[in-house]
Amino acid sequence: MKMKLSVIGTGYLGTTHAACMSSLGFEVIGVDTDAAKIAQLSRGELPFYEPGLDTLLDEEVKSGRLTFTTDFSLVADADMHFVCVGTPQSKDGLAADLTYVRSSVAAITPYLKPGSLVVGKSTVPVGTAQSLREELLQSAPHADLAWNPEFLREGFAVEDTLRPNRLVVGVTSDKAEEMLKEVYEPVLALGTPWIRADLPTAELVKVAANSFLATKISFINAMAEVCEAAGGDVTVLAKAIGYDPRIGNRFLQAGIGFGGGCLPKDIRAFMARAEELGAKQALEFLTEIDAINLRARQRVIDVVRADLSEDLTQYKIAVLGAAFKPDSDDVRDSPALDIAAQLHAAGAKVVVHDPKAIENARKRFPNLGFSESIEECVTGADLILHLTEWKQYRELDPKVITTLAKGALIIDGRNALDRELWRAAGWKFHALGRTD
Ligand code: UDX
Repeated sequence: MKMKLSVIGTGYLGTTHAACMSSLGFEVIGVDTDAAKIAQLSRGELPFYEPGLDTLLDEEVKSGRLTFTTDFSLVADADMHFVCVGTPQSKDGLAADLTYVRSSVAAITPYLKPGSLVVGKSTVPVGTAQSLREELLQSAPHADLAWNPEFLREGFAVEDTLRPNRLVVGVTSDKAEEMLKEVYEPVLALGTPWIRADLPTAELVKVAANSFLATKISFINAMAEVCEAAGGDVTVLAKAIGYDPRIGNRFLQAGIGFGGGCLPKDIRAFMARAEELGAKQALEFLTEIDAINLRARQRVIDVVRADLSEDLTQYKIAVLGAAFKPDSDDVRDSPALDIAAQLHAAGAKVVVHDPKAIENARKRFPNLGFSESIEECVTGADLILHLTEWKQYRELDPKVITTLAKGALIIDGRNALDRELWRAAGWKFHALGRTD
């Protein structure tokens, strides 16, 4: 008999995990306290944008294997419970807020059947799994708890869940490992590396990976600053160092830096936790990684002022992109939106376009101007800022944009546009880390 699964928390991670596990043939119940979201998911409708997940969700709901509820008692049938709730940055500091993780484990504890396994997937400070396990065993000694961090990227969530580049499980018993191997059997059959770790190491793998990625991005943005000072070109530099396989060419795209719901909060929570553990010094470099990242946003604003004027009140600025990265409607800690908001606060008339994120962006910054059409957004603009590298923007014909915009000035905040093409059409083209 195939195991039955529950997924606690139906946000980005939970919904993806639930739909993917259902697609592997498991009966899955997704639980959340948000009744409106559960109603929407039950109709097979995805509350956010993620390529491929909308159709998968709809298919799995229609298959009858995937159901959603707000009633925690309905998880009683499940053999394995994946905890996928959010761990946002706390309001009063850098640390992660564990309220949702703790309350969701507490909510399912009374319903855990003998031999069942609670599997944490949320990103938590190291030590959380161990303490949650100790608490769980006090009221439910017939159950166990393991940790199985996820590494999914927005825009590739389904792919990263069904074909991950590794599976990491933090377990304290062979039985827990065997149960997890059974669930992931189709994924393992693809040759996916399987790493068994203790609980703290499994938790650390996730934050270490995100810290490394953040470091890579801030490294290249630091090089961009030096290139600007020295008259170099960071895109050529990145290409050249990337050929060394020890460095690799991925995550070396210089620009306005990283945002989103993971990297910024994860490195901050990691620093806060290291300090609690007496290992503050080991992660002090992440303070600089964060600072370089935030400086990239400021540098764009400096270029805007240098190109237009210190006083921005007379200018219309067209911002292309609001999402924190392409193929996503997520605007959490989005560098693009942050820059747009700062320019607006400085008095510029800012109009933002994004193929998917306008609704979310408007909720966060209702006073910004928004436009559903690129043409309308750039019409009459003194300056175009390219801040999220959607494919649509790379495909723009600068000759057509010339007929709409007022000025012929563009700043590429993502180093993704074809500079020669824009220049050939008569545009003044600036990019971070590239000297003209
Ligand atoms: C990240 C991790 O990649 C993923 O493994 C983890 O599970 C969750 O956090 P995600 O937040 O979806 O995933 O975004 P990612 O693709 O990592 O990009 C993060 C940010 O870095 C984006 O704002 C992106 O624009 C920026 N970035 C990325 C760069 O500025 N330069 C790069 O070279 C790569």
